[in-house]
Amino acid sequence: MKNIAIFASGGGSNARKIIEYFKDSDLAQVVLVVSNKKDAGVLDIARAHHIPTHLIHRADFYDTKEILAVLDEREIDLIVLAGFLWLVPGYLIEAFPRKIVNIHPALLPLFGGKGMYGAHVHAAVKAAGMKESGITIHYANEQYDAGDIIFQATCALNEEDTPETIAQKVLALEHEYFPRVIERVMSYEL
Ligand code: GRF
Repeated sequence: MKNIAIFASGGGSNARKIIEYFKDSDLAQVVLVVSNKKDAGVLDIARAHHIPTHLIHRADFYDTKEILAVLDEREIDLIVLAGFLWLVPGYLIEAFPRKIVNIHPALLPLFGGKGMYGAHVHAAVKAAGMKESGITIHYANEQYDAGDIIFQATCALNEEDTPETIAQKVLALEHEYFPRVIERVMSYEL
């Protein structure tokens, strides 16, 4: 059984889908949820599923390596960034080579990078008059939204779409594909 740690900063709808997807799996399980925000909804989801949580603080996360001990204690095989808004520090990338996956709500390399998260992404896609958007699942590295792309899925857009409707279409793709892509990565890459 492989062990997944989810890092998230927000509501955690992706985290919930992933937790539920692996609930009865004999391949992997979510054994830890890490957040940088003590009031993040993702922590409530973890607690509701009796999954241990860990709160990180900026100084500890960037100036120490204590998170490695937490991950080691849980024997983590894969780190999943599901709406985690901080940059991943180099020591964590090195400790988990091709074992940290991130999801971005746009078709990278377009509409990615610093500041491109949540509604900002969909507003930029709308402003650019794009005919499609989608999701990108990729290996995390030390830059925002860079790293080798693992999977992409698209959704069609039309003139009536707003940043909100684009967000809804993209979130539906996230929920549909992220758990399955994680399973595939754990089946073939780990
Ligand atoms: C998603 O839009 C994801 O693409 C981005 O952060 C958001 C997480 O949403 N990385 P949720 O907290 O899982 O609902």
